[in-house]
Parts: sequence; C-alpha cells; structure tokens
Amino acid sequence: MRPRSGSPAARRAAAAFGAAVGDRSARPDYRWIARLTGASPDSVADVVAEAEALVPMEIAIRRAHRATGRVGGFAQIRAPLELYAITRLQRPDTVVEVGVSSGVSSAHFLAALRRNRHGRLHSIDRPTFQRGPRLARNESPVSIPPGRSSGWAVPSRLRTRWDLRLGPSQRLLPRVIRELPPIGIFLHDDLHTPAHLAWELRTVRPRLAPAAVVLADNSRWTGRAFPRFAEREGVRWTARRGTDLWGLRLAA
Ligand SMILES: C[S@@+](CC[C@H](N)C(=O)[O-])C[C@H]1O[C@@H](n2cnc3c(N)ncnc32)[C@H](O)[C@@H]1O
Repeated sequence: MRPRSGSPAARRAAAAFGAAVGDRSARPDYRWIARLTGASPDSVADVVAEAEALVPMEIAIRRAHRATGRVGGFAQIRAPLELYAITRLQRPDTVVEVGVSSGVSSAHFLAALRRNRHGRLHSIDRPTFQRGPRLARNESPVSIPPGRSSGWAVPSRLRTRWDLRLGPSQRLLPRVIRELPPIGIFLHDDLHTPAHLAWELRTVRPRLAPAAVVLADNSRWTGRAFPRFAEREGVRWTARRGTDLWGLRLAA
C-alpha cells in the first residue's frame, strides 16, 4: 500500500538518508506522516523524496557527533525525516520546540522551513555541559561539548529562521509563545515527566493553530499526560513506528 512504502523516488531518497544517518529506524513512517498532516500518500512520498538533498547535512551532523564521542547513531530524536516531512506538509508560520541539545530536531525543522521559504522555528533549551572534549561513558549524550552551545550541530546557513532561547522551559515557554503567530507544530523533547509535559501542553494550547501537529518524544516516561491531552481535544494520538515519539493533529 502506498502510504506504507512511498514511491520509488521516496524509497531511494529514504535509503540514502538512512545510510547517511547510520540509523535504520530513521526510515520514514509514511502512515504516521499522512495521519498527522492529513496529506495524501502522493504528497507524503513527494516530500520524502526530497530527503536526498538532506544527505550532506546528515553527514555533517553525524561527523560532528562522532568528533565529540557520540558514536551510536542518533542519541536524540529518532524520526528526523518525519519532522522534515511534517513541516514541509504543514507549511507552518511557527514551529516551537522545547529541548535542543545538539540540534538534530532543530536542523530538520529549519531545513524544511528553508525549503518552504516561510515560517520560523522558536526553540528553548536549558543546556547541560559535558566535562571533557569527548563524551565520557557515564555522561548523557544530550550534554553540550566544551566551548559549544545548544544547537551546536545545526549548520549555520539554516539559522536565519531560528530564534533560540537558553533557559528553563518553565520560565521561557510562556514568554516566548506570547507574541507568536499561531503555532502549527509543537515538539516536547525536554524534561520528560508527566507533570512537566502536561504543563507544557496546557501552556501552549491557547497559542496552537487549528489542525496543529503536537509531538512528544520519550513518551514512555510521561505516563498518561499525552493521551489525556488527546482525549480532551477529542482526537486520536499515534506513535511513530518503533519509537515512543507520539503525535496528534488538532481539529481544523
Ligand atoms: C533529548 S534532548 C533534546 C534533543 C533534541 N530535540 C534533538 O533532536 O537533538 C533534551 C534537552 O532538553 C534540555 N532540558 C532538560 N530540561 C529542560 C527544561 N526544563 N527546560 C529546557 N530544556 C530542558 C536538556 O538539557 C537537553 O538539552
């Protein structure tokens, strides 16, 4: 079936993308993208086919990760191509993400916004720092190498559409979203507790656009917070295949 497998061009591009990323789970979940965006299978396949153009960026990000001791494929978001595709299909005015680290999710949002020639990404991160030049075994891969800052792996040419704020979500999120155009995509990827996710969802809800896509990573740690939000909105949530990255689409 088309939504499961995409077109031949999409499959070729996704294979090249997966090889560059070095992570088989980076292969796209076509159905999930279609469900979240309401796009047709052909439209989903068309934006996935653009992934070939992302290969140089993926190689650069992977190289930067390796140079700092991050060797095991993606330590961060496990569906970067989906973030790109969803952003291409939603064509949002505004994307908001909380949790940046090296900037894998940020880079994919920004690459799509650049191709859209429209929209801005607003990111919030309270960084934690790594002790030495290479990541030690007992250190979190989300910590920032010395001399770098949050989003350190994001290519500089993508940064023109980026507003990056450093500090805790609890303080910055209400401030950042106050003046923004309606948010078309929101990603939670910071402090994964049920109470914090529920608070972030409550906080952004009044600023979300109709049919906005809401995503939450590491949902195995956040209990019923995401399903409860979906219930209140009267919509279904779905997991990206093979991950605990969950998503939903608000009513139009
Ligand atoms: C899993 S990483 C983000 C990965 C990123 N989305 C990616 O795809 O590369 C989580 C980040 O959230 C930050 N963080 C943790 N608690 C936070 C909070 N309360 N407010 C803002 N950022 C926080 C962490 O320091 C870390 O940089």
